[in-house]
Amino acid sequence: MTTQKPDLTEPQKPIILDGKLISKRTTERLKDQIANDPNLNIRAPGLATVLVGEDEASKVYVGMKRRTCEYIGMKSFHYSLPTETQIEDLRNLVKKLNEDDKVDGILVQMPLPAQLRKYEPEIMRLIHPSKDVDGFSPNSIGENTFGNETYGSCTPKGMIRLLEEYQIPIDGQEVVIINRTNVIGKPLAMMFLNRHATITVCHSHTRDLDFHLKRADIIAVGVGKINFITPERIKEGVVILDAGINRNQAGKLVGDVDFEAVKTKCSCLTPVPGGVGPMTIAMLMENTYLSYQIHMKKKTYQQQKNF
Ligand code: GUN
Repeated sequence: MTTQKPDLTEPQKPIILDGKLISKRTTERLKDQIANDPNLNIRAPGLATVLVGEDEASKVYVGMKRRTCEYIGMKSFHYSLPTETQIEDLRNLVKKLNEDDKVDGILVQMPLPAQLRKYEPEIMRLIHPSKDVDGFSPNSIGENTFGNETYGSCTPKGMIRLLEEYQIPIDGQEVVIINRTNVIGKPLAMMFLNRHATITVCHSHTRDLDFHLKRADIIAVGVGKINFITPERIKEGVVILDAGINRNQAGKLVGDVDFEAVKTKCSCLTPVPGGVGPMTIAMLMENTYLSYQIHMKKKTYQQQKNF
């Protein structure tokens, strides 16, 4: 890949880490791989999406995932359940999908409606580890800690992939992550650690956030606050990954970084939209295809064994 290398000596010209472009390249590569997969005559890869309730943002996200899935030649199995769904029905659906040989990945869109919110960890645990393409389960997070990122959480995996595609050094860098969730901050910290960075994970109880921000070589932020990262808070030449998703007063989608102001000070920066977001979907597709390859390999092995 001939992606532009960042010039860390010219902070006036930040490299915009183009998630839209890299995700497009990733999905085109997957589309090509799937079309030429030797197992395609047996069955296509399949992703099951489960959407409970009527949350508008979730509908949009799931719609984008399904469209990408179909575009690259995977089957999309969609289940739309009413807001008042009982937990037992959701459990039964996940169990059924765990058993379904046509399904390589199961994605239950989060957040669940209010009455089911407390069951989210249980549902994440219930998805079979070999179908956990979101990478949310304790099994996947544990594997990630062991250095196996096959079912790596999609948003952190996408953030790391962006750095790698632009050949931004990670080894030995001071990384400050402002997010400690199971789906972004914690797996992201492990992925950076797997690549020999030094990690600081900050959160609402961190005593002196600015102290950490000022010394960071790479900042990864996802706090859900507009203009949270401003030029005064960062070091010249820093690389910034913005996983924030907010709507400003004009209704426009923006991240956690004051993009225009910070642009002149950092070396590399992800835009919102078009940065981390599209990478999440691309990594979901990649995880699902990896899962398919593993399932088909196991199937061939079983068939050979039973012959
Ligand atoms: N809600 C917001 N992002 C995600 C995601 O990546 N996966 C799932 N399952 N739910 C989400």
